[in-house]
Amino acid sequence: MIKIGASILSADFGHLKEEIRKAEEAGVDFFHVDMMDGHFVPNISMGIGIAKHIKKLTELPVEVHLMVENVDLFINEFEDMDYITFHIEAVKFPFRVINKIKSIGAKPIVALNPATPLDRIEYILVEVHAVLIMTVEPGFSGQKFIPIMTKKIEKLKNVIVENGYDTKIFVDGWINVETAPLAVKAGADVLVAASAIFGKDDVKTAVKNLREAALKALNKDFLNKNLDSNKDKQVKHNG
Ligand code: DX5
Ligand code: ZN
Repeated sequence: MIKIGASILSADFGHLKEEIRKAEEAGVDFFHVDMMDGHFVPNISMGIGIAKHIKKLTELPVEVHLMVENVDLFINEFEDMDYITFHIEAVKFPFRVINKIKSIGAKPIVALNPATPLDRIEYILVEVHAVLIMTVEPGFSGQKFIPIMTKKIEKLKNVIVENGYDTKIFVDGWINVETAPLAVKAGADVLVAASAIFGKDDVKTAVKNLREAALKALNKDFLNKNLDSNKDKQVKHNG
């Protein structure tokens, strides 16, 4: 089942309560809160206070996406969060970070910038709840999806399946009705979207369209795979 996370970055900050309510009613599965420090990325977004406020406004899980240099400094602030996402590019000792996140009762997610190779996370893959593949450079909403990221998702999915891991794949960056099917076909399990949800006048229809586009791609892919394996069987049988 594909899950959808609503990224608060494109919400109307003057009406957070209503924005969250609308997204909940539209059926999103969780909220994604982008935190930036002006160093790791050239932007500053929400801080600890807003993340905690959002957590109080919803019963749904909240994921904090840390786009910051000093990850260690912030983890302890987030013990009420469900998922804490850190960037592999920002940490020297990922096992230490993962253990710290687990010790406060949250689930660790490791994020990769578009140009960061998958080798960087080979040894921590089994330790994290999920890998978040950035499909744009981090820092801003409303940027263009980087098409070659589908190859990265496919490659990661293969590693996960081959090893029998339970690690999920999140995608974040210009995920919408056009790009979600590409990401899902490549193997993404969870879609994070800002503009495609909060950037729309009708949030309910936006989430519905996004979910339908993703599910259609998933089913089509499933059908194709089955047809292919049936074809194989036939060939083997005939041969
Ligand atoms: C980008 C953030 C994303 C952003 C996505 O740095 O990590 O979560 O909110 O925005 P859209 O969906 O508009 O690309
Ligand atoms: Zn994000």
